[in-house]
Amino acid sequence: MNLVRSWRAAALCSVFLLLTTHAASAQARQEYLLNTDWRFTKGDFPEAAKPTFKDASWQKVSIPHDWAIYGPFDGNNDLQAVKIEQNNEQKATLKAGRTGGLPFIGTGWYRRQLTVPGFAAGKRAVLLFDGAMSDAHVFVNGREVGSWPYGYNSFYFDITSFLQPGTANTLAVRLQNQAESSRWYPGAGLYRNVHLIVTNDVHIPVWGTYLTTPEINAEYAKVKLKTRVEMTAGATAPLRLQTEIRDAAGQVVATVATPLTATDGQEFEQNLVVKAPKLWSPETPVLYTAYSKLYAGEELRDEYSTPFGIRSFKFDATTGFTLNGQPRKFKGVCNHHDLGPLGTAINVAALRRQLTLLKDMGCDAIRTTHNMPAPELVSLCDEMGFMLMVESFDEWKTPKVKNGYSQYFDQWAEKDLVNMVHRDRNHPSVIMWSIGNEVPDQSMPGGNKLAKQLQNIVHREDPTRPVTAGMDRIDDAIKNNFASVLDIPGFNYKPHRYPEANGKLPQGFLLGSETASTVSSRGVYKFPVVNAKDKKYDDNQSSSYDLEVCNWSQTPDEEFVVQDDLPYVLGEFVWTGFDYLGEPTPYDEKWPSHSSYFGIMDLAGMPKDRFYLYRARWNPSSPTLHVLPHWTWPGREGQTTPVFCYTNYPSAELFVNGKSQGRQTKSTTGTPQARYRLMWNDVKYAPGSIKVVAYDAQGKAVAEEEVKTAGQPHHIRLITDRTALTADGQDLAYVTARVEDAQGTLCPEATNQLQFSVSGAGRFRAAANGNAASLELFHEPRMKAFQGQVMALVQATSQTGPIQLKVTGKGLKSAVVTLQAERATNQAKL
Ligand code: GAL
Repeated sequence: MNLVRSWRAAALCSVFLLLTTHAASAQARQEYLLNTDWRFTKGDFPEAAKPTFKDASWQKVSIPHDWAIYGPFDGNNDLQAVKIEQNNEQKATLKAGRTGGLPFIGTGWYRRQLTVPGFAAGKRAVLLFDGAMSDAHVFVNGREVGSWPYGYNSFYFDITSFLQPGTANTLAVRLQNQAESSRWYPGAGLYRNVHLIVTNDVHIPVWGTYLTTPEINAEYAKVKLKTRVEMTAGATAPLRLQTEIRDAAGQVVATVATPLTATDGQEFEQNLVVKAPKLWSPETPVLYTAYSKLYAGEELRDEYSTPFGIRSFKFDATTGFTLNGQPRKFKGVCNHHDLGPLGTAINVAALRRQLTLLKDMGCDAIRTTHNMPAPELVSLCDEMGFMLMVESFDEWKTPKVKNGYSQYFDQWAEKDLVNMVHRDRNHPSVIMWSIGNEVPDQSMPGGNKLAKQLQNIVHREDPTRPVTAGMDRIDDAIKNNFASVLDIPGFNYKPHRYPEANGKLPQGFLLGSETASTVSSRGVYKFPVVNAKDKKYDDNQSSSYDLEVCNWSQTPDEEFVVQDDLPYVLGEFVWTGFDYLGEPTPYDEKWPSHSSYFGIMDLAGMPKDRFYLYRARWNPSSPTLHVLPHWTWPGREGQTTPVFCYTNYPSAELFVNGKSQGRQTKSTTGTPQARYRLMWNDVKYAPGSIKVVAYDAQGKAVAEEEVKTAGQPHHIRLITDRTALTADGQDLAYVTARVEDAQGTLCPEATNQLQFSVSGAGRFRAAANGNAASLELFHEPRMKAFQGQVMALVQATSQTGPIQLKVTGKGLKSAVVTLQAERATNQAKL
């Protein structure tokens, strides 16, 4: 049992599990992360499947590994002459950077030796891939054990008959990424974890439990646990499953022991009761775990843990969405899977940091656009309290990109959906499944039948959650019954048409499945300050006054209006929480842009101004008072320089150099912006400072925020998100390096090149500055400040002790920050 539990912790922390051969053979099940000792090369080497192949010249890598993130960025890496129909383009144009401008296209091979302690006659071995980009072909000892084309899905193969006990085996994986296979940066390689699971012949298979909570009230919750058992040779003694439920403190709160009778087939059904259940919600993410032990006679044959939460929810035409009986609207963001400077290589610390920032913003939901997430994200959402829309596909039968999922759809869609649902259906964070995003099949004859088929597959595998899809072709989708088939109709960028859609559809509610797509660059302000669509500037940046959108999209405020005014709208999922690699709209045709401008936070995870607009709305219990733009505009003296304030206070007064510019109050009568922002549009720039004083509903001055004009760059200041790291070789600190003047004011236009050096028990991992047009490589220990700031990622090694990051820059006083690497538990390797 401990082993299984410690494996879960190990999986989350991406650390390895120590198992001596002796300990391993005593255990019913061993689970290993295969992180180290891999060799990798780009290019195709069919002979590499064979054990005799010599890979000594290949690169030594550990996984998760993204082979393309090290660059270099080059517009030729993903040059495409395409017409993007989703963006309403009328003709094909040449585009670079649409998928990140990184070298992900082509074939790559990974190889590793596998000596499996405890594997012997009567044992089974399974390889579980959390995801492999893409078209994985897996070989053991020269023989192909299986393949899985979709790079985002988890899949597993039983390799029992391929493995030699007691000796080194050869594991080889061939991956291939086609050109024009994606609309964003998909990453490349073994970018998620690979697990080896060794069990007895009689065992509980991968994703072998299905836990639901059919009845919940204040006194008790009924828990139904279905557990599958597999055995090839037949059981030698009667099987019995003993399950105990433990609460978050580890206290046993329910137990049951169930014999497997002949009529049960190979599935146990167990019903347990948890008294006075503590309910899971984003605000109270309480978890329980069901620990199961499988006995054949008196012998322990397997053990398995199923973490879960107890919560109920309902989608209803009169009450909308309710969680545990409480009505609420989704305050959600869409996120792609890359982690900015880390590329797609999964890292738990990086995910946790994203969720920490989103939590502070008041976000309570995430849509995993447009594909299955890493399992670590789902577990973190359980633990930290986020509701998930787990999405599957960006296209079905009809392609959006030349070599996208449509080539696999007929043969693989059902298998992909089944794996998605089986892997994640016990997680309390998962609230709905999405079968697709803006699939062109919305407009095709038979598209509604396809939607129905896919929805039925998901219902068959999990009858407890509704199915949605993000629709953009609203007229087609309504006319041909595509939208009416779905449990939850989701519309992308259609706030002005919600009333019409709701009137025509039977469900009685709808979701803003994708909203806003406002574009901005952190800390960049453009004049004059006007609402604009598809606006481009010579410097490849967009204005952070949050008024620039695409021809299909909106400012945040336009969506807020309908979210607030229309009771049948279930909430929104903003495009996007974080900038991501690829899709550099509105600069798709203007290299060197190669990452998005849509994020509420930039590619480094630094908040843009918009973060505070959402925070003011979504996190009402924490005061937000944020003022923009920066106030260092040499040459703009006397020119109109509007000042905006994002706040959850109802009104505020602006002072420029101590002189009042009047008080503004949010108002429902003007533009959407006037309802959600305080704006002083006629302010004339004069160096010095701007200060907003916020007033509460009673008119009392309660808070203030000041922005000063900066002088010359003088020193570097470092702010770390964490001071203590776990010495697990994976953990990360995000250190913001700010270029400041002598008084400590951020120099908001500083572009100084900064150098990073790490000593002690850590290493420099990456840097990012959020500039979508910067070709600097993330892994090099130097980067230019963008709007005065750079983020440096410092990674723990497996050593404990102090870590020092020193940041220097020409003409700047340097800075040092000291972190501490602390001992990791369960650290060792296979
Ligand atoms: C949507 C699409 C997203 C992204 C977004 C940009 O139509 O679903 O994947 O492309 O537009 O605004």
